[in-house]
Amino acid sequence: MENTPANSSRRDFIKTATQATAGLSVLSGIHIPYVHAQGDDTISVALVGCGGRGTGAASNMMGVKQRTRLVAMADVQENRLEASFNGLSGKHPDRFSVSADTKFIGFDAYKKAIDMLKPNDIVILATPPAFRWVQFQYAIDKGVNVFMEKPICVDAPSGRRMLELGKKAEAKGLKVGVGLMCRHCRVRGELFDRIQQGEIGDIILGRAYRLQGPVGTCFTKPRDVATDPNELIYQIKNFHSFLWASGGAFSDFNIHNIDEICWMKNDFPIEAKATGGRTERGDYVDQNFDHYSVEYTFRDGSKFWLEGRNAMKTHNEFASYVHGSKGMAVVSTAGHFPSKAMTFKGQNKNPKEIIWRGKQPEPNPYDLEWQDLVDAITNGKPYNEVERGAMASLVTVMGRMSAHTGQLVTFDQLMAHDHEFAPNVDKLTMDGAAPLIADASGKYPIPLPGVNGLYEYVVPKA
Ligand SMILES: NC(=O)c1ccc[n+]([C@@H]2O[C@H](COP(=O)([O-])OP(=O)(O)OC[C@H]3O[C@@H](n4cnc5c(N)ncnc54)[C@H](O)[C@@H]3O)[C@@H](O)[C@H]2O)c1
Repeated sequence: MENTPANSSRRDFIKTATQATAGLSVLSGIHIPYVHAQGDDTISVALVGCGGRGTGAASNMMGVKQRTRLVAMADVQENRLEASFNGLSGKHPDRFSVSADTKFIGFDAYKKAIDMLKPNDIVILATPPAFRWVQFQYAIDKGVNVFMEKPICVDAPSGRRMLELGKKAEAKGLKVGVGLMCRHCRVRGELFDRIQQGEIGDIILGRAYRLQGPVGTCFTKPRDVATDPNELIYQIKNFHSFLWASGGAFSDFNIHNIDEICWMKNDFPIEAKATGGRTERGDYVDQNFDHYSVEYTFRDGSKFWLEGRNAMKTHNEFASYVHGSKGMAVVSTAGHFPSKAMTFKGQNKNPKEIIWRGKQPEPNPYDLEWQDLVDAITNGKPYNEVERGAMASLVTVMGRMSAHTGQLVTFDQLMAHDHEFAPNVDKLTMDGAAPLIADASGKYPIPLPGVNGLYEYVVPKA
């Protein structure tokens, strides 16, 4: 059942609440809706998807130098919203004005949260990416700015839709940030400038590694109806396991490193040739491979090699490198930040051959991406990261599709592809069916390279 806020009580309250009192009552544990006074330039923000990253993004938003304030929250899981509410209200009471009647639960909750905003305000879209185009479309219609988490699509049709929506947002002058925060890292930005100026020659190879244990929800056990009575919510809770929800572990985890290499190359690849497989899967029922290896090709013929793995007791590495005709560069060393970016003469990371080393300590790029977005809003500067975010998401899909199908996949083939994993994602309801149905043994269709042409999986006919 969808939750309906007590709109009447909100309206009554707004009549009497003043800016002076709004938010202060957080200290006494009562959360009062925020009301704009005339001339007040505070940017109100709504959070849609109150999980780990949504809560983190809201916290980053509350750290910008301009006045910002969280006024509404939406989720499909009440316990996630409440945990986020408690964490954020305690950490940032001065920027928190979410009240009982601005907390919304359900698949239409995003509409109610966005309806609390006015032009110039921001909605944070931090659900699994399946819902991105649906919620972005509504935000554009309502004329509000957007911060959306990566990836921003899970398949070619949703990627094409995001590219179109990005243009629509631009035409309306909306500011849109995409959570590929490494693009806002100042040290990586300096590295990009140095590479473009030829410090390491022409880029001929990129290498990226996201080799880690089974993190997030990429390995999932069969649903236990006693603890997970709702199939759809079970799939959303375990979104890394379901291609319709997240694009799988491949899209969710590898996109940052893929985007870093494409940034440094200043281009996106036109082709992917990949392998991958499931080794020790036990009774896990997710749709992921546990290891992937992709050779991407750029239009000038240069290559980018990506390795992704989720497996226990194996070599861990989370890093990106580019090699040029005169030297090599570290783009990221171990995770998202600090990047510890460096350039070297020659192809080895030889400490005696360092050309340049990024200044330390590096500011947190999760804070920088917010400061940059809010600066653009307050200064009225164009700001739209959708095309770049959609391209990064799509070339990620291209690599995954190649591994899952066992075929060489070109970007043109991808862009013409019709496999939409969850075409009815905008119509899901709490009591309705999930986009993917398990078979009698609780298993879901998995990718079978060489079996289904360019289709990553096929749902058996009932
Ligand atoms: N930029 C980064 O470094 C980074 C890091 C982590 C996650 N992310 C991205 O953030 C997104 C969320 O990841 P997370 O780790 O926070 O997941 P999470 O499961 O912790 O949070 C997702 C939340 O969205 C809610 N939700 C799902 N469907 C919804 C819907 N239709 N409407 C409203 N709420 C809905 C879930 O109930 C959950 O509370 C993903 O796209 C992920 O890739 C980005």
